[in-house]
Amino acid sequence: MAIPETQTAVQLSAFGADNIVIAQVPVPKPGAGEVLVRITARPVNPSDVFAVVGVYPGYKPKEFPAVPGLEGMGEVVSLGPDTSGRLSPGTRVVATQWRCASEGVGTWQQYVVAPEEDLVPVPADLPDEAACQALINPVPVIGMLQELDVPKDDYIIVTAAGSALGRMAIRYAKSRDIRVVATCRRAEQVQELKDAGAYEAMVLATDADAEALAKRVSELTGGRGAWGALDSIAGSSPARIAPAVRVGGSIIVYGAMSGANIEWNVVQGLFRQVALKGFWLVPWLASKSAEEQRAVLAEVLEHMRSGLLPPMKTDVRPLEEAAAALRDQAIEGRPAKIVLRS
Ligand SMILES: NC(=O)c1ccc[n+]([C@@H]2O[C@H](COP(=O)([O-])OP(=O)(O)OC[C@H]3O[C@@H](n4cnc5c(N)ncnc54)[C@H](OP(=O)(O)O)[C@@H]3O)[C@@H](O)[C@H]2O)c1
Repeated sequence: MAIPETQTAVQLSAFGADNIVIAQVPVPKPGAGEVLVRITARPVNPSDVFAVVGVYPGYKPKEFPAVPGLEGMGEVVSLGPDTSGRLSPGTRVVATQWRCASEGVGTWQQYVVAPEEDLVPVPADLPDEAACQALINPVPVIGMLQELDVPKDDYIIVTAAGSALGRMAIRYAKSRDIRVVATCRRAEQVQELKDAGAYEAMVLATDADAEALAKRVSELTGGRGAWGALDSIAGSSPARIAPAVRVGGSIIVYGAMSGANIEWNVVQGLFRQVALKGFWLVPWLASKSAEEQRAVLAEVLEHMRSGLLPPMKTDVRPLEEAAAALRDQAIEGRPAKIVLRS
């Protein structure tokens, strides 16, 4: 494949979605142990929205203009010196991390250089639009369920369960005989979540909904409460779900869909000993060796193929439409994961 001198990139001149421009920039050259990857598909995730506005700790550009994009998949184009031969031109790959992305050289451009040790081949029958979602959402599903260590046939609560990650959690938990009580903010999603594999699904938008949740979980668990919970909303959500969690159980907060602050409750934290914990995939993966990280990603890819970690259906758009895609990411009830292709 002929490698061009320049490429199309989405650039941020400063933090803020209004500061996005489409530019032509040089195609980088791989150094020792590195690989040049032509990125073909990138999902637009909540972390990209937070990164663009400057509040995501995993995106700290060294300088502006910077390129956003924390996830993606692509095709090996060329190999730098001192690579192992494990990959060859044409191999489709995902990465355990796009290292340069955290410094402001992200995947929202056509070509990216990555260390060979970070790259994992993608099975031939997994389409680009699915494989590009292999890192940021599925890996925390595996990690958080390991952290909660839920006994077989026990229950967990998953809030905002209609999200891409929530749907994967429902399916993956079910495959491990863990029963998910899914919550969502829209009544029309309840049946959809049951069809996706949730043991129970309920709306959670008010304090009255929270009381109904605690009552239903108590019925299901013989009065004990759910083993634990996964929450991506923050704000009032942990305090709302805590009465439905067993004494001594944990709520893992892994997202902040309603803002950075959490309202907590001394009755739940002190007298019922419900623990609030955080989970972030960056330190979770960083605690593993490169080989272990690749093994996690290879496992994810197999589960995506088998349907245990089903990728969200996609709304595919050209890379050049990144600014509109970021705006549309905020639409309530958006039915698909936006994927930028080039
Ligand atoms: N900690 C980590 O390592 C990690 C890794 C990956 C993702 N995450 C987090 O996981 C969450 C899900 O990511 P995703 O890519 O799966 O998201 P997604 O597919 O874009 O879905 C977002 C979901 O959040 C719901 N939502 C948005 N704002 C809400 C609010 N204020 N109250 C209740 N529900 C709300 C939406 O509901 P509607 O359908 O009603 O609009 C939608 O179901 C995000 O918070 C993300 O930051 C964390």
